[in-house]
Amino acid sequence: MKLSQFGKKFSQQAGIISLMEDLGNALADGNLIMMGGGNPGFVPEVESALRESMHRITEDEAAFRRLVGVYDPPQGEKSFVKAMARLLRERLGWPVGPEHIALTNGSQSAFFMLFNMFAGDFDDGTRRRILLPMTPEYIGYADAGLSEDFFVSAKPVIDELTPHTFKYRVDFAALPLDDSIGALCVSRPTNPTGNVLTDEEMRHLSEIARERDIPLILDGAYGLPFPSLVYTDVKPFWDDHLILCLSLSKFGLPAARTGIVVAHPDIIRAIASINAIMNLAPGSLGAMLVTEMVDSGQILSLSEQVVRPFYQARSQRAFRQLNEGLAGLPYSIHVPEGAMFLWLWLKDLPITSLELYERLKKKGVLVVSGHYFFPGLQEPWEHTHQCLRITYSQDEALVEKGLRLLAEEVHAVYAVSPSQG
Ligand SMILES: Cc1ncc(COP(=O)(O)O)c(C=O)c1O
Repeated sequence: MKLSQFGKKFSQQAGIISLMEDLGNALADGNLIMMGGGNPGFVPEVESALRESMHRITEDEAAFRRLVGVYDPPQGEKSFVKAMARLLRERLGWPVGPEHIALTNGSQSAFFMLFNMFAGDFDDGTRRRILLPMTPEYIGYADAGLSEDFFVSAKPVIDELTPHTFKYRVDFAALPLDDSIGALCVSRPTNPTGNVLTDEEMRHLSEIARERDIPLILDGAYGLPFPSLVYTDVKPFWDDHLILCLSLSKFGLPAARTGIVVAHPDIIRAIASINAIMNLAPGSLGAMLVTEMVDSGQILSLSEQVVRPFYQARSQRAFRQLNEGLAGLPYSIHVPEGAMFLWLWLKDLPITSLELYERLKKKGVLVVSGHYFFPGLQEPWEHTHQCLRITYSQDEALVEKGLRLLAEEVHAVYAVSPSQG
């Protein structure tokens, strides 16, 4: 098979491919404890609201026909787009209308479109890149560029808050800002660390983007205003050069593949055009299932009163268990501020995090090696091989067992090392 550069680039082994394969295999293989992927948990109240909504649609002939038998416009399902604009305008005070919103088949595909709109080769012969201001950052960005050398990123400042907790902060002084930056992108909360950028960090990043007249892409897949997996006191963020990417996945609809881009109408028109070329239209399922929840504001109340407490309780429990299991070892956990992950830093780890991942997999526990989460980082940094991402969204008894097995294995790894402390 003779492949083009595109064909080769997108079929070679990429972090996100091995992650999704592991995830799929683990869910198929009942023996592996799945603490690797970003699959949301199953929240009973959300499931029942969605089931009711599905029931209403299937009972209504016209609605059912629209659900399965009609292509939406390339900007996405009209009533949903209208309801979403109204929600953002009325509940959050953002100056947006339907012309500021487009849907995509999952927010993952929105990142592919946006990154390649703002980075790559330009007409004037220049080449631009996407700046990820703070690694660790989401593995799913890493291979989304159509050209090589697509991302540039920076190491964070590490604040050691207690002997066994730390927090990453954006190192503004170290940001590699030059004319080759086409856009900034951050996830808030951050996958993989559970970090939530502070309001001040957001303002500062936004200011940098405004000064340079480039967009700031804000990945709110876990964030505000929904699904609201945020456990610190921060505000939803909006600015007129912001491109906010939201998703219905972590609210409980990953299979419906619904991404929501909120941005300047010029950007929305471009997204709609790319949608038309790549997909004809985005799928309607997610949008139709939640339009009434958006209309009534229930998507916000469910997020704040049900979805967030569901994950926050799991986060606290997993955090406690991991601390108990690792007592006596030189470990630190990123303060769990959001999302559905614990980010574990094993200081002076005698093997690499990838080797540890393999050993854990043999014991039946699937996590993700931290080294994948530093896209665009040019300099070597041993920290990148000392971290694991642990997902706590699945069945609590299994997570508890997985954390126990993980702690045993980590003790065994340090036991052969003089650096145990
Ligand atoms: C930070 C982040 N952004 C975006 C996505 C993409 O999600 P989706 O394509 O399901 O909207 C994910 C998925 O796990 C994620 O973790």
